[in-house]
Amino acid sequence: MSAASFYPPQRTLMGPGPSDVSPRVLAAMARPTIGHLDPAFVGLMDSLKGLLQYAFQTDNRLTMPVSGPGSVGMETCFVNLVQPGDEVVICQNGVFGGRMRENVQRCGGNAVMVESPWGEAVDPDALERTLAAHPAANLVAFVHAETSTGVRSDAQALVEIAHRHDCLAIVDAVTSLGGSELKVDDWEIDAIYSGSQKCLSCTPGLSPVSFGPRAVERIQARKAPIQSWFMDTNLVMGYWGSGQQRSYHHTAPINPLYGLHEALVILQEEGLEQAWARHQRHHLALRAGLEAMGLQLAVEESVRLPQLNAVRVPNGVDEAQVRTRLLTEYGLEIGGGLGALAGKVWRIGLMGHAANEKNVLLCLGALEAVLGSMGAAIERGVAVEAARAAWG
Ligand SMILES: Cc1ncc(COP(=O)(O)O)c(C=O)c1O
Repeated sequence: MSAASFYPPQRTLMGPGPSDVSPRVLAAMARPTIGHLDPAFVGLMDSLKGLLQYAFQTDNRLTMPVSGPGSVGMETCFVNLVQPGDEVVICQNGVFGGRMRENVQRCGGNAVMVESPWGEAVDPDALERTLAAHPAANLVAFVHAETSTGVRSDAQALVEIAHRHDCLAIVDAVTSLGGSELKVDDWEIDAIYSGSQKCLSCTPGLSPVSFGPRAVERIQARKAPIQSWFMDTNLVMGYWGSGQQRSYHHTAPINPLYGLHEALVILQEEGLEQAWARHQRHHLALRAGLEAMGLQLAVEESVRLPQLNAVRVPNGVDEAQVRTRLLTEYGLEIGGGLGALAGKVWRIGLMGHAANEKNVLLCLGALEAVLGSMGAAIERGVAVEAARAAWG
């Protein structure tokens, strides 16, 4: 059987990621492939590092995109910073904290868990108590923006507690980078990783990471070798370091890196703070429309993420059927709940390029039409006006 070329259907991506990719990013990725040691490519790498430092708000020299999805960025942080026998405190309030525990255990470390209920922020007092009870701990890790629930934790406060107990802090910023306030240097974050496919609106598969001076010092003082060859930052930096003298480490994903560069140029053109404000503005409009319809957001307002809106499924509604109909009838993708929230919430993303007026209106209109036709008890004909009023 001969296969034909693949042409994906047109979709609007308003789930938990990937988000809609800007046409400028797709166009950049279609440019000719050059060698990964070509001087022109090395120039792009330097520019990319500068743009990432801007996005992360850091001067960290060890800032680069890892060739792999957010999970590889996560693993890069753990394999470089955890040695066998280390005690590591993991704060978990959703799916991704659980993966951090796995990482620690696979590095030979002992994970001490600080559990907060799903749908709530990490509790700083619980972290404080746990660190007081585990004086040997030398590392704390948590997720800044929990994609599985739509909750933002107070990264600055958690890092400050970690440092007070002589621990370094690893922060997962996969969903926060570019979408809500994040200041790596001001907040003294030691190691951080993100993903290309959420609020940066690039294609999936690249993971920006950054390591601060305390983390670099700890990596250099390691006694046990880093168990991953690919993720060993000492080796990767031979390629991602500085100057024209770069040595081969792995063949970089050239065209996706063009795409990430373009995505970051777009972010810089808009301005980081303006991008954060745009996510918030469209979140408020979406929320106004959903609430006018009679739907409820699942997360308390003070810790809600603008870029990931968890919405309670009304009683008696088959949530999966709603998502299927949105996809097939409107080309609109939203997400379902995960883990403890499976079947109970939808997750509506407003990430990066997808956080715009047109998408908010499409989502409200399509959701109203589908829920209305299924006989759900919603108020009809008011959501779009409520969103418009919120935009002012
Ligand atoms: C908070 C968080 N951490 C880590 C990941 C893993 O990223 P990836 O799927 O790109 O490997 C995700 C992906 O959704 C995420 O939302």
